[in-house]
Amino acid sequence: MSLARFPQGFLWGGALAANQAEGAHLEGGKGLTTVDMIPHGANRMAVKLGQEQRFTLRDDEFYPSHEAIDFYHRYKEDIALMAEMGFTVFRTSIAWSRLYPKGDEAEPNPEGIAFYRALFEECRKYGIEPLVTLCHFDVPMHLVVEYGSWRNRQMVDFFTRYARTCFEAFDGLVKYWLTFNEINILLHSPFSGAGLVFEEGENREQVKYQAAHHELVASALATKIAHEVNPHNQVGCMLAGGSFYPYSCKPEDVWAALQKERENLLFIDVQARGAYPAYAASLFREKGIQLVKAPEDDDILKHSVDFVSFSYYASRCASADMNAGNTSAANVVKSLRNPHIQQSQWGWGIDPLGLRITMNSLYDRYQKPLFLVENGLGAIDEINAAGEIEDDYRIDYLRAHISAMGDAIADGVPLLGYTSWGCIDLVSASTGEMSKRYGFVHVDRDDAGRGTLARRRKKSFWWYRQVIASNGEDLA
Ligand code: BG6
Repeated sequence: MSLARFPQGFLWGGALAANQAEGAHLEGGKGLTTVDMIPHGANRMAVKLGQEQRFTLRDDEFYPSHEAIDFYHRYKEDIALMAEMGFTVFRTSIAWSRLYPKGDEAEPNPEGIAFYRALFEECRKYGIEPLVTLCHFDVPMHLVVEYGSWRNRQMVDFFTRYARTCFEAFDGLVKYWLTFNEINILLHSPFSGAGLVFEEGENREQVKYQAAHHELVASALATKIAHEVNPHNQVGCMLAGGSFYPYSCKPEDVWAALQKERENLLFIDVQARGAYPAYAASLFREKGIQLVKAPEDDDILKHSVDFVSFSYYASRCASADMNAGNTSAANVVKSLRNPHIQQSQWGWGIDPLGLRITMNSLYDRYQKPLFLVENGLGAIDEINAAGEIEDDYRIDYLRAHISAMGDAIADGVPLLGYTSWGCIDLVSASTGEMSKRYGFVHVDRDDAGRGTLARRRKKSFWWYRQVIASNGEDLA
């Protein structure tokens, strides 16, 4: 295994998101948000996908986000644990509905601002740079119910007002911003991704791409505002990454993989290059989409991002016949099972070289610095008789991926930093489970919400501390 070569000042840390960690879903003036309506259990998928409307909470369902891991009350303890590992960056998101409980108010909620100021100041106390996502899978429910969420262009105004509030209120505390988490996931998980609920018989592709267009305009305007508020602000887009491999060298399979790759990268093409790519026209034609654009939109989209951030869990595989069975779960993005790689307990492929491939392809395409803001292994952890968690499988996964990341840097790819996903165990976005754990720190809570929420360091905690202390040289 080759030695990683990381530049001085490389940012090392971990990532959480408000919707999966904070809990306190109605405290501090917060309003209900999309994730608060997504239950654990049998109805989860239908709600997440926007097939079943859930505008009111039900007594017979359990909603994991309501308490989550109680980061809202325990953030000081959690940041101290991150500092103990040596983090120099911590990625989290702001819950839009803490600042604007309904989403369409003229003024923000001061309690929400006070909470995030305190959180970012706590990071700064330890020399940890916050990396903040403005929208990570949560839209205020009032905007969903009253406006139809991102299918409505008015969302651009609501979002940019919220974004400006964040840039102004946290100026001097936060420099690195991401607009929309995994913007391409809107195509695969429309309600959790963008608050979309479908009506019978409508062209769903039209709704999704129109909503994405509104997000892209909002993202470009937010980028412009961030730079106006403070020219030192750095704004990134965020891709659910993982290159598509052709399942075989059959030309039809190669073409299929290229199309899937384009579908994945379309929104990032706009955010990073400032315009829709040429292939968008034929894609829209095939899907029967007629994008409604305001006359000023093309100019607005020219405000491209400063860097390209992405998550990487697994590579993907495509063939001309994607329904040939043999599918694997690469997050919610459909993929064929790759026989050359191992799978996680949740069926996600494990492909460290795929990370090197993805990083090289992204940099070849965008020529902007990259930031790997999510990566990790969701696995079941057992506490042994000595009270310890020996998560060598997680260490193996991370070691191989950090090493591949070092190889990509040696290939010439500029990478700003690395935040592994779920550095403290949190609620899984896809399944709502707690048992799908990613963390260096264990949280005592089960899938039904039982447990003390106590934190416990795992073996990987000590391992990652040494990785950071050696700036990625000591991966043993
Ligand atoms: C990414 C999301 O898709 O993957 C996170 O940005 C999510 O919110 C992560 O938690 C891992 O997925 P999961 O389903 O294992 O939680």
